[in-house]
Amino acid sequence: MKLVIAIIKPFKLEEVRDALSAAGVQGLTVSEVKGFGRQKGHTEIYRGAEYTTSMVPKIRIEIAVSDDLAPRVLETIQETAKTGTIGDGKLFVLDLEQVVRIRTGEANDAAL
Ligand SMILES: Nc1ncnc2c1ncn2[C@@H]1O[C@H](COP(=O)(O)OP(=O)(O)OP(=O)(O)O)[C@@H](O)[C@H]1O
Ligand SMILES: [Mg+2]
Repeated sequence: MKLVIAIIKPFKLEEVRDALSAAGVQGLTVSEVKGFGRQKGHTEIYRGAEYTTSMVPKIRIEIAVSDDLAPRVLETIQETAKTGTIGDGKLFVLDLEQVVRIRTGEANDAAL
């Protein structure tokens, strides 16, 4: 299993979520975060205004997926979150050791 962490532009969340559902993703976690990349946040436009602080609002999505589904998830996020301008975000992929569905005690792929 893999844990995919995606940092994306906030206005892309709905489109990315819908595309991930269509790709077979059963669940995900979303957080509002702030961060910066290579431009240190100085030159990014957010909601029509150039952002003057060094931290730009982003959305962080965490998705636990089977190894089989992981490539499709990465592709889907890349396709839907991309605008071609700076600050489009990043994907981090981690090996995921264990998953448990609390209600049933199911483990790993069965718990996704
Ligand atoms: N090395 C990193 N580690 C952790 N988070 C990062 C890293 N790089 C970027 N991020 C997160 O991703 C967000 C978007 O990064 P961004 O897309 O601006 O990266 P970039 O490397 O500057 O690429 P680009 O040149 O396309 O803007 C940042 O605001 C930050 O939250
Ligand atoms: Mg950047």
